[in-house]
Amino acid sequence: MDERLITSSMMLEDEQTEYSLRPRFLNEYIGQHHVKEHMRIYIEAAKHRGEPLDHALFYGPPGLGKTTLAAIVANEMGGNLRVTSGPAISHAGDLAAILTNLAPGDILFIDEIHRLNASVEEVLYPAMEDYALDIIIGKGPSAHSIRLDLPRFTLIGATTRMGLLTSPLRDRFGIKEQLELYAPEDLQEIIRRSADILHIEIDGASALEIAGRSRGTPRIVNRLLKRVRDYAQVRGNGSIDLSSARAGLEMLAIDELGLDKVDRRMLLTMIEKFGGRPVGLDTIAAATGEDATTIEDVYEPYLLQLGLIARTPRGRMVLPAGYAHMGYAPPPVEAAPVEAAPAGSQQQRLDI
Ligand SMILES: Nc1ncnc2c1ncn2[C@@H]1O[C@H](COP(=O)(O)OP(=O)(O)OP(=O)(O)O)[C@@H](O)[C@H]1O
Ligand SMILES: [Mg+2]
Repeated sequence: MDERLITSSMMLEDEQTEYSLRPRFLNEYIGQHHVKEHMRIYIEAAKHRGEPLDHALFYGPPGLGKTTLAAIVANEMGGNLRVTSGPAISHAGDLAAILTNLAPGDILFIDEIHRLNASVEEVLYPAMEDYALDIIIGKGPSAHSIRLDLPRFTLIGATTRMGLLTSPLRDRFGIKEQLELYAPEDLQEIIRRSADILHIEIDGASALEIAGRSRGTPRIVNRLLKRVRDYAQVRGNGSIDLSSARAGLEMLAIDELGLDKVDRRMLLTMIEKFGGRPVGLDTIAAATGEDATTIEDVYEPYLLQLGLIARTPRGRMVLPAGYAHMGYAPPPVEAAPVEAAPAGSQQQRLDI
């Protein structure tokens, strides 16, 4: 599954180029206009007061630029970035060690912050609120706690699963910014920037073509750019034009909406096996052999954004646009629940 070219999670090959492609300052960060505007104001105000920035939480699907934004905040604030992640901090003591080693103005970035365990979170609360660390000394009735002062730092948390964050933790972030999938025009600009850095020749129309098939995600756009460049090098004259871009994307089996085989299988399953009736997430997972969490975090947001499927209280449903994209006629009326489905109610495939 992780071999999917359009997965928005990090792949090994991304690591090599992501570093060089990562914008370093706010004015190089493309798109996300609201988030950028907010951050610009908060950063300027904090600098003006000579204080560290409020703790910030960035959330949204993988590959949209949360880590990038954390590094930008550190650069803009002129502080050091310390990077760790929820799963990497297994004991309260690990976090205490990290916190006591911070310098004033440091930015502590905790990726996948929803995966912190409860005892670690407890340490984080006073650290965030009062810049203090409570240490328990002794055991039993004689136990008492002493409070250590911590330097004034900024915590930046990133998560793809806002819903899994405990509310006490969520409430301690003064800044919460949601990153949205990018518009094709923003992705086109990201391609142009990346192509410049990687010395790839590409025209505007081809950049837009790749952008339109990148699921609103900068990480995917950069990956497809490199793949199409390979294609243009071997099959063309090295520079990317519309025909090599299209042929390259076709070879990668990514259709004009950016769907790959897994997405199409999901839609087909929902249409053919369930006749367009609402289907539960676990049922889709079982029928397609994909992991339910991955479907929810990675595939679904894009299909929802395109209006190909909808989430209803009774389950996921394919919308008319989803039928049309897969070459099917939409169901005539709202389909009945799965149990009540009359036999032979499967959709007919159109001859197109
Ligand atoms: N706004 C942007 N402008 C230009 N490039 C961007 C932007 N956002 C992200 N990128 C590019 O996309 C890549 C992936 O971004 P990043 O690693 O920050 O995503 P993420 O949200 O942290 O993903 P994950 O959830 O997997 O950790 C970056 O290396 C960068 O090249
Ligand atoms: Mg990240």
